[in-house]
Amino acid sequence: MNLIIRSASIDSEVSSGDFRSAMRQLTGGVSVITAGRGRDISGMTVTSVSSLSVDPPALIVSINRESSSWPLVKRYGFFGVNILTSDQIDIAERFTGKGGLKGVDRFAGARWMTCASGVPLLVGALAAIDCEVEDVVERHSHAIIIGRILNVEVSARTAALAYWQGRYVAIDQDEDAAKLAEVSVPVRKTARKV
Ligand SMILES: Cc1cc2nc3c(=O)[nH]c(=O)nc-3n(C[C@H](O)[C@H](O)[C@H](O)COP(=O)(O)O)c2cc1C
Repeated sequence: MNLIIRSASIDSEVSSGDFRSAMRQLTGGVSVITAGRGRDISGMTVTSVSSLSVDPPALIVSINRESSSWPLVKRYGFFGVNILTSDQIDIAERFTGKGGLKGVDRFAGARWMTCASGVPLLVGALAAIDCEVEDVVERHSHAIIIGRILNVEVSARTAALAYWQGRYVAIDQDEDAAKLAEVSVPVRKTARKV
């Protein structure tokens, strides 16, 4: 059954600035999307990666159709999702295209590997996920890409990189667990050892 919840043509009274302010409050995990083969590669920093389903393993990412990665995703039908650790801010910055870096030049200074799809995957990422494009919804400025998972490499690292209110935030499991332990002393006193 197709359910149309609301017509897409309704004029919105919400300004893009107000919407942007609201979205700044949403904490996002930082990943780099990679696409292409050989030297015909590019990539971009995103916070829009989200899990779609576990069975089958699939995810979603939303990318701007003006980005240099989009034609490569369309042409090859594959992409990589590289979930960054807290000490990979430099990589995140390179892949926003700041300083005019384009294509293959964004990949300099880090180690990359390939799996089944042939797209570059970041060695040392918190997780590097090889994906095949299953479906695409082109809507407004963006393309929502559904990726079927071909392979995952998961690191033992525990420090993640997030983005919140326009800045990068490190989430360190050890440090944050220590802070939680400080505030949860009364609870821990009553906790039973098993
Ligand atoms: C933290 C952060 C998150 C971003 N998330 C997205 C995203 O989810 N989708 C998107 O299209 N662009 C996102 N961008 C912008 C892209 O990184 C940027 O437009 C892109 O790298 C430009 O690529 P191009 O020079 O290859 O066109 C994000 C930027 C930053 C700094």
